[in-house]
Amino acid sequence: MPFSDAAAGRSPPPGAAMSAQPPAANAELPAPADRPPAGAAPAPAPAPELTLVIPTFNEAGNIAPLIARLQTALAGLRWEAIFVDDNSPDGTADALREAGRRDSRIRCIRRIGRRGLAGACIEGILAAQAPVAAVMDADLQHDETLLPRMFAAMGDGADVVVATRYAPGGEASSFGALRGFGSRFANGLAHRLLGVRSSDPMSGFFMLRRELVERLAPKLSSEGFKILLDILATAGRDVRVEELTYTFGVRHSGESKLQMRVLVDFAGLILAKATGGAVSLRFLSFAAVGALGLGVHLLALRLGLGFGARFEVAQAVATLVAMTFNFFLNNATTYRDRRLRGWAILPGLAGFYAICGLGAAANVGVAGWMFYQTSRWWVAGVAGACIGAVWNYGVSKALVWREPS
Ligand code: GDD
Ligand code: MN
Repeated sequence: MPFSDAAAGRSPPPGAAMSAQPPAANAELPAPADRPPAGAAPAPAPAPELTLVIPTFNEAGNIAPLIARLQTALAGLRWEAIFVDDNSPDGTADALREAGRRDSRIRCIRRIGRRGLAGACIEGILAAQAPVAAVMDADLQHDETLLPRMFAAMGDGADVVVATRYAPGGEASSFGALRGFGSRFANGLAHRLLGVRSSDPMSGFFMLRRELVERLAPKLSSEGFKILLDILATAGRDVRVEELTYTFGVRHSGESKLQMRVLVDFAGLILAKATGGAVSLRFLSFAAVGALGLGVHLLALRLGLGFGARFEVAQAVATLVAMTFNFFLNNATTYRDRRLRGWAILPGLAGFYAICGLGAAANVGVAGWMFYQTSRWWVAGVAGACIGAVWNYGVSKALVWREPS
């Protein structure tokens, strides 16, 4: 034990007083004496057959109990666990490194400057070594004793095994009434519109073949919570889905990160998939703001005329008022996630005026052409309005509320 002798303060040999100090012992490196002699290294452990992928954000207090439970529940399997942590401020990654020092099956992918459950799950699955991966919460809400049965169902030929809270026998008593209803309603829609055959496609507890995700990954969304629904909807009808039921527990420690957002996400995905990606939740929001803007326009026009302004003047002022109203409302709702603040609002507003001006020209042009073609005034009017809305949306999305790069 040469290091500990030196550290114990044995006097240095004469003439060596200024020689280098031994390196400070690093608790994470094994002491040389602990290392097996060359040639006697143990055979490498065989690859795991099951990888658990566990997204975490502020779950430090749940790590130790979760790992203890996994070690018990999975005693008969060769497994590994990949935690994907979005740099939680509560030190989740430290807790994981600590756990990994005692059990090398535990690893943590630590992502800096990124957030998002779906993306975390996809990255974890892509990093999995085993051919089968399971996703579960870190908060002990998902019953880990179900894992061996899920794994057996995979062995029986399932492509995806969903641990569901709703099929007979399952229970979601820790759900609020509204959330329970919302989930059931959304599941019905997913079934009808997307052909997703699962009684709980928003479940965060499921197992699948890694290869399925490798194949689908380029098409999956990394935003939001709807990872399983996205996988099932994208995979189409030729995946074999099995379900097992369990009782959804109460969160052990920390707090839930999702409430309404799950449902909004869900509605958005259903809309996008049902319309082949043509209509997004963002576009609907933009169109609703536009409809409100029309009301504002008419109101301003009426007021202007009431004050005795000439029609052209009142119309011009009303147009400006409506565009300004639309800009600020879109900035606060449709584009809340990329909201322009401070001085950035000025060029944004100017750009928005210019884009909407061109949109109005396109609107009138298309409507005129359609009127000439069909001579039905309302068909022409609607066509013009649609072209204008799509133009305004598409161009302002690309130029005013740009996606952060
Ligand atoms: N890496 C990462 N990044 N992990 C996250 C993030 C994030 O941005 N947000 C949440 N998590 C982790 C949490 O730490 C937890 O382990 C898991 O993802 C689920 O988050 P919870 O906050 O526990 O969600 P929940 O219990 O309210 O929601 C459950 O039901 C939803 C459907 O109703 C989960 O099972 C969800 O997966 C499920 O979609
Ligand atoms: Mn949870």
